[in-house]
Amino acid sequence: MIFFVSPLSIVLLSVFIVAVLIIFCKKLRNVNKLPVDGLQKPPTPFKFPIIGHMHLLAGYSVPYEAFSNLGRKYGNVVKLQLGNVKCVVVNGQKNIREALITKGHHFDSRPNFERYQMLFGGNKENSLAFCDWSDTQKLRRDMLKVHTFPRSFTNTYYSLDNLIQQASTLIKSEITPNKSMEIKPIILKNCANIFTAHFCSKTFSVSDEKFIRMVENFDDIFYEVNQGYAADFLPFLMPFHKKNLERINSLTHEIREFILDEVVGSKFNVDTDVEGDYLDSLIKRVKTNSDLTWETALFALEDIIGGHSAVGNFLIKLLAYLAKESEVQAKIQAEIDAKEKPVTICDRSSMPYTEATIFEAVRLIASPIVPRVANQNSSINGYEIEKDTVLFLNNYDLSMSKALWNDPAKFKPERFLKNGKIVKPDYFLPFGGGRRSCMGYKIVQLVSFGILSDILQNYTVLPDDGTSYEVPVGSLALPKNTFKFKFISR
Ligand code: HEM
Repeated sequence: MIFFVSPLSIVLLSVFIVAVLIIFCKKLRNVNKLPVDGLQKPPTPFKFPIIGHMHLLAGYSVPYEAFSNLGRKYGNVVKLQLGNVKCVVVNGQKNIREALITKGHHFDSRPNFERYQMLFGGNKENSLAFCDWSDTQKLRRDMLKVHTFPRSFTNTYYSLDNLIQQASTLIKSEITPNKSMEIKPIILKNCANIFTAHFCSKTFSVSDEKFIRMVENFDDIFYEVNQGYAADFLPFLMPFHKKNLERINSLTHEIREFILDEVVGSKFNVDTDVEGDYLDSLIKRVKTNSDLTWETALFALEDIIGGHSAVGNFLIKLLAYLAKESEVQAKIQAEIDAKEKPVTICDRSSMPYTEATIFEAVRLIASPIVPRVANQNSSINGYEIEKDTVLFLNNYDLSMSKALWNDPAKFKPERFLKNGKIVKPDYFLPFGGGRRSCMGYKIVQLVSFGILSDILQNYTVLPDDGTSYEVPVGSLALPKNTFKFKFISR
């Protein structure tokens, strides 16, 4: 049978097919679009029930490497479901800056992991780094600024300079030249004294057993908070960590006891108008305003004293890099020797190579930005980010990208120098940015500059025969027993 098809039917049929195609294509596009504001949903890989996308992070020693790979495969904003937590991985300088700065006020919360709650007295809002944004956090940051960012050549700056010099002298006195030794406990104790003296005007004998115990406890907790656990995303796994968390919890109680008995002492009960150190300012605020409780103040004080673990562990990593880099050490020593005097933090601006070395170590460690959380529905690079989404801002990629750095795996301080001056590229964001940026970066730079210069003024650091100097990447913490070094007198 032959069908007769008139020209009119062909036109009508064509119009019908085109209309169907248009509707179908629109529907397809709408799968990736929000109806209200036209934002696209971020691409997302295939996921499994319960674990979601957690399998995609398996097999990576640095989880952020997985995030870089996901970025290459799916684009700069990728949606993931990690267990029961909705997440987004953000790659690329422009997008990370959008999250940190342009829309920093949309992404200023932190994840609500049960582990964080347990580590901070049952309430993560007690923590400076893991709390959500609030008036209290603004107040805590404002009160800290004066002490953690001392302006050059002020009294606070000179006092810190003095403390660093005293600590360096003690470190040198504990070094046994030409013998392989662990220096981490020595560095940590002396960093702790810089911190207790700077923030609370209190120093301790480095052989004081209680003080040593406090330093060890802080280091243990620092290691703990720097670990990522599958249980953060799959809470049904938490019982497996119960014992360890109870152990850590008891360490926090020991620390509290030490802080109250040995650091605060009778200071709280003495009425004084002098607002000398950070502890004084906390006590005064608690007594004169209702916006800060003594409990919150104590947690903040402990957090900031605990910052010494970050500096101490960083210094050990820095020495581990340098043990293999005799040429870098020689260049730092040339800057030191040109001074013909003991070097102090006041020499920083005229020792750019030494400063560049510190930046290079910070870059290579590629410590992650503490995850942010969206406090409202928002967007990054035109992609919808739902309220309560955890954001992984991949600064690992910014620090290690072959597209941004020459030979990124190599230790080359020169990359931070131009015409003998320090240059930091915009994509170098090791301390995050915006309203939740690191409160300790200046102290890190000052203390590590002072201690490193003093060690290298007096010694050359050599590797110990039995030690591998593979510096762990993607975390600031080191295990308790770590690298050994030989210090050869100059
Ligand atoms: C090499 C050492 C360090 C590195 C690489 C580092 C890096 C970071 C990063 C990436 C963040 C998150 C920033 C963001 O979300 O935008 C952060 C937060 C923070 N850091 Fe550091 N940090 C270091 C040492 C320190 C030290 C020594 C202290 C204390 C004196 C400190 C205090 C803090 C605090 C209080 C926060 C939380 C700020 C907030 O959430 O409002 N950090 N740090």
